[in-house]
Parts: sequence; C-alpha cells; structure tokens
Amino acid sequence: MTFEILGPDELVFGVDDVEACAQYLTDYGLAPVGVTSAGGRFEALDGTAIVVRRRDDPALPAPLPTGSMLRKTTYGVPDQATLDAIAAELGRDREVTTLPDGSIEARDDMGFALGFRLTVRKPLDLRAEPVNSPGAAPQRGPNEIGVSTTRDALPRTLSHVVYFVPDVTKAEAFYVERLGFRCTDRFTGTGPFLQPAGTLDHHTLFLIQTPPFMQGIEHFTFHMAGPTDVLQAGYRFAAKGYQSFWGPGRHLFGSNWFWYFNSPFGCHVEYDADMDLHDREWVAREAPAGADTSQAFLFQHRQLWFPSGPPPKAGAH
Ligand SMILES: [Fe+2]
Repeated sequence: MTFEILGPDELVFGVDDVEACAQYLTDYGLAPVGVTSAGGRFEALDGTAIVVRRRDDPALPAPLPTGSMLRKTTYGVPDQATLDAIAAELGRDREVTTLPDGSIEARDDMGFALGFRLTVRKPLDLRAEPVNSPGAAPQRGPNEIGVSTTRDALPRTLSHVVYFVPDVTKAEAFYVERLGFRCTDRFTGTGPFLQPAGTLDHHTLFLIQTPPFMQGIEHFTFHMAGPTDVLQAGYRFAAKGYQSFWGPGRHLFGSNWFWYFNSPFGCHVEYDADMDLHDREWVAREAPAGADTSQAFLFQHRQLWFPSGPPPKAGAH
C-alpha cells in the first residue's frame, strides 16, 4: 500500500527534565507554544514541532522497553481520505486508536508508537539562501548583504528522524509494504534511508540496526534555509554551551549539510540543509557505512579567532 505521507509533523518526547528540554529547543531556534511545567510545543516556521511532556504523563503512549524518551512519531497527511485509508490498512492486524483530535495512533512492527494526522504544515513562502556565483545570475543584487551577526537562522520544517532498531529488515518491510515508503539509498548491513510518497526529500526516516537494548531514537533534525544557516545557528548554539557531536560537514547520501549536537533528550539533535530530492526514477545506491561514505567533508567547531599579536613563543601551546 502507498499513502500520501508528507513526512513527520511532530515528535513527542516524555522527558526527565522539562525545563532543560524547553530551554534546549528554544535555544535551538524553535518557537515555544503553550509551554508550562508539564511541557508544550516547540514549533518550526511551518508549524511542525517537537512536543515535550513529562516522562510520567499518562496521556503519552507507553515507552519502549529501553526507556527511550521518544514516545511517538506523528506523520502528516494531506486529507481525511488518506487518514482513513491508513487506519484501515493498519487495522487489519493491529490496534488503531482514534484520538479526540481526530488523529490516529498505532505501533509499527518494532513497537514504536506512530501517529497520523491531517498535517499541521503551513505553506512556507520564504527565500532560499541567496548565493552569488560567477557565470550565474546574481541571487543577491548590489548592496544586499549576505551575512550579519543579527540575522535570523531559524528551523523551517521538521526534516527527519533516525531510529535504532533491533531487526532492520523487519522494520524496513513495515514502512515499505504497509505505508509505501521507498528506499532511496542504503548503508550495507546498517539500514535504509526511507522516503514516504508525499515528499521528494531524500529521507524522512533512516533506520540503523543495533542490539535490542539500544532501540530508540538516534537523532532528529529540522531543515534550515541553507548552509549559512546551519553554520550560523550551530555556531550560536555552541556559544550557548551546547556540545557539538559531529559537524559541521556535508553528507554524501542526501547531500545535506549537517551539524549534530548532544541533547537532554537522550539522542542527538541536528541542523540540516539543502537535501537532495528524488522521484520514482531514482535508483538507490548502496555503500558500507563508514567515515568515507558518510560525508564529503567535515569541519570542527572552534572559537572565533583573529590573527594578531606576536608569534607564539617556542614550546608554547
Ligand atoms: Fe540526519
């Protein structure tokens, strides 16, 4: 079966420290909406969001046995007919619950809680990051400044989520056969990059084979306007004290710029930008997972610096 699934609209977490998670997501660049000591929503520009609740919130789906803080991945669909069709398909062999807000809830074959809802995505009408390139028409005209320390660098839309799964073959089969996701590329023995039918993005879901005790979320990320926003948002985030985990750099599969940070969600959190688009003509590539296949280049964060003063003394660090 294939359904017009647009991508993840919301990720719901049940956390130990609501205050730290709220501060983290606000500093990351998401807008807090209705946030109290019990949690709230943290929205990108198009309304896609991270939802934070207390770990013991009785309204949350039961956690995975591993205790991963990810409690639900909610996908957006364009219309009620699609929602009804997904409910009918999943209802053939599992419990599907309709919630008071009209969304439906079920579990995938690994036990991850899934939601499906009429999408919250607001259409965005924003400019791409403009670049001036010799031989091409200028994207920034005379006197239009490319960068400043005060410009916004805000997450635009929830891009993708990555799961650690104990049986990647079974997990992939569920998303491909039951929901119509397609594999766009694959790391041999690790897992597939998966794209639902309602988007051209290289992936909205990536699966990684792990031992069962690791099952959960590895990272999530929001799309930024472009590489400058990834670098500038990441730089500000690091300056606030958050710890860089990997990046900045540019992935090979998907071509997306990336910068990953540690977080209080028990997973990494990424900024990304400029992902490849693929349609049905695309033939999935495959490579062993490793440093050479994961990125075209990689940089490391460092403090602002300026070449000044006398040469360093011999032996000085
Ligand atoms: Fe990613």
